[in-house]
Amino acid sequence: MNPSRPTSTWSVLRRLWPDVWRYRGRVGVALAFLVAAKLANVGVPLVMKELIDALDLAPRPLLVPLGLLLAYGALRLSTSLFQELRQIVFARVLARTSRNITLRVFEHLHALSLRFHLDRRTGGVARDVERGMGATSDLLDWTIYTILPTLFEIALVCSILIARFDWTFTAITLATLVAYIAFTFTVTEWRMRFYRAANTADTEANARAVDSLLNYETVKYFGNERHEFARYDASLVKYEEATVKSQKTLAVLNIGQSGIIALGLTALLWRAAVGVGAGTMTLGDFVLVNAFLLQLSIPLNYLGMVYRQVKQALINIERMFVLLDEAREVEDAPGAPPLAVHGGEVRFEHVDFAYDSARPILRDVDFRIPAGHTLAVVGTTGAGKSTLARLLFRFYDVSAGRITIDGQDIRAVGQASLRAAIGIVPQDTVLFNDTIYYNIAYGRPDASREEVIAAAKAAHIHGFIESLPHGYDTNVGERGLKLSGGEKQRVAIARTLLKRPALLVFDEATSALDTRTEKGIQAELAAIARGRTTLVIAHRLSTIVDADQILVLEHGRIVERGTHEQLLAEGGRYAQLWALQQRERAEASGAATVVEA
Ligand SMILES: Nc1ncnc2c1ncn2[C@@H]1O[C@H](COP(=O)(O)OP(=O)(O)O)[C@@H](O)[C@H]1O
Ligand SMILES: [Mg+2]
Repeated sequence: MNPSRPTSTWSVLRRLWPDVWRYRGRVGVALAFLVAAKLANVGVPLVMKELIDALDLAPRPLLVPLGLLLAYGALRLSTSLFQELRQIVFARVLARTSRNITLRVFEHLHALSLRFHLDRRTGGVARDVERGMGATSDLLDWTIYTILPTLFEIALVCSILIARFDWTFTAITLATLVAYIAFTFTVTEWRMRFYRAANTADTEANARAVDSLLNYETVKYFGNERHEFARYDASLVKYEEATVKSQKTLAVLNIGQSGIIALGLTALLWRAAVGVGAGTMTLGDFVLVNAFLLQLSIPLNYLGMVYRQVKQALINIERMFVLLDEAREVEDAPGAPPLAVHGGEVRFEHVDFAYDSARPILRDVDFRIPAGHTLAVVGTTGAGKSTLARLLFRFYDVSAGRITIDGQDIRAVGQASLRAAIGIVPQDTVLFNDTIYYNIAYGRPDASREEVIAAAKAAHIHGFIESLPHGYDTNVGERGLKLSGGEKQRVAIARTLLKRPALLVFDEATSALDTRTEKGIQAELAAIARGRTTLVIAHRLSTIVDADQILVLEHGRIVERGTHEQLLAEGGRYAQLWALQQRERAEASGAATVVEA
């Protein structure tokens, strides 16, 4: 995927078109206002010419042509009146289209896989979306309401020139226009690379800034502020260079455009002056030609600027579209039915999995959790335990084998229904930067306050929350960093309790808790696990002795399985681990006794 892949104007407009078409009524009315404004605009010099000629040719110049004066005033007013009217009518279309597109990108970002998000830098993605949103409305505004009307105005002026004066006027005007447009397009195309480079640098700088600020604590721990500044500055330097180049080339463009207009104007006035001298043109005609050209040069200059802006908007939008075009790795099968849970039997059938095909993580993992039973998985860190949970949630698809819930392959059912059926207390809990209440209620946003508090009580965090000055309204900070690891874990437990899913996954759910708190919560967890199919990934073996079955995972393979007693009797890896942890516990409690004494 190449983020700076150029997109053609037409393909972008085609994608925006359905949104605009929905508002065709408004677009039409706005265009009508615009045509009226342009007609008024062209009418002004015409009335002016009549006025001058009336004053110049009338035998008594003191006779004021009242009608013409009034017409002049009315036309002047109409130009801005109609412009404003069309702005009012069109504002809704612009705002709505931009909203629709941005929402679509946001929805799409949520539909993309975990793999995509792990590879992406949030700051960069956010910037791309933000720029794309602004650019969408700019693009529509400019193409529909500046380029088209300007072309219309040019055509109008040209036809008046043709009708009134000899062909040389039209020829000079057209030659100026062609030269101007050709020059503008060529130079703008060439300049776009600098604009694109500036954008890329800007996105990169933003990604680095966000990443650096998210790691605020780490930066301080290592005293690496200077290193961070240097990294950020490296991106800023690129941005600076690209911006300066972009400005320099803009000057070239502007000078060239002005030169072409000046040449055309001079040539036309020369023709008009000759005409007045020869008596074939009136003074009014001379003024008219001048006014027309000046009037044309404004939208022409505009056209140049707008063409540039449109190109820039396209570049901003194309980055957003690149995000939209990112294929969904995990997708619902067409017409996938929702998962039907009856009991909730989970099966992993000969599952192989690798995040990266060069490094297999799970190998031939095969097990069954009968409905309502509890299966525990233990093993060294990196063995692939959390990966089992991610696969069950279908964050990734298995490489071989299959995972079923009540006999339904999870790839054949809707992801939303699958995820609604499973609750997880993850290994690392990240919270929303909002209140504790919000974070617990997130488990089931329509839960009542009583239910939220009951869940907090069950997770043994109610007392702690009550002790805070702001209670449930306490803000947890960015990613929940104002809470300790154990507190976050209990919030995570509370919100999973609130969700009341048919299946449960505890991924080292109590690892951040001290032994006493863990014991207290363990009873609650056991209570909610009762009757529910539960997958427990455990660090402390003492927490899983009651599991119906225990798997020992090593390097992605199941090396032992059985109940606690069976595994102890086998005297294998599990028995070793158990002995080790028992000894550690004895030492720890021995130490505690010494301290107390
Ligand atoms: N998104 C990822 N991309 C690549 N490798 C990963 C990813 N997530 C985890 N891994 C690797 O997969 C292995 C298993 O991870 P995990 O299931 O989290 O282990 P654990 O048993 O400690 O829970 C680890 O070696 C880890 O480095
Ligand atoms: Mg893990």
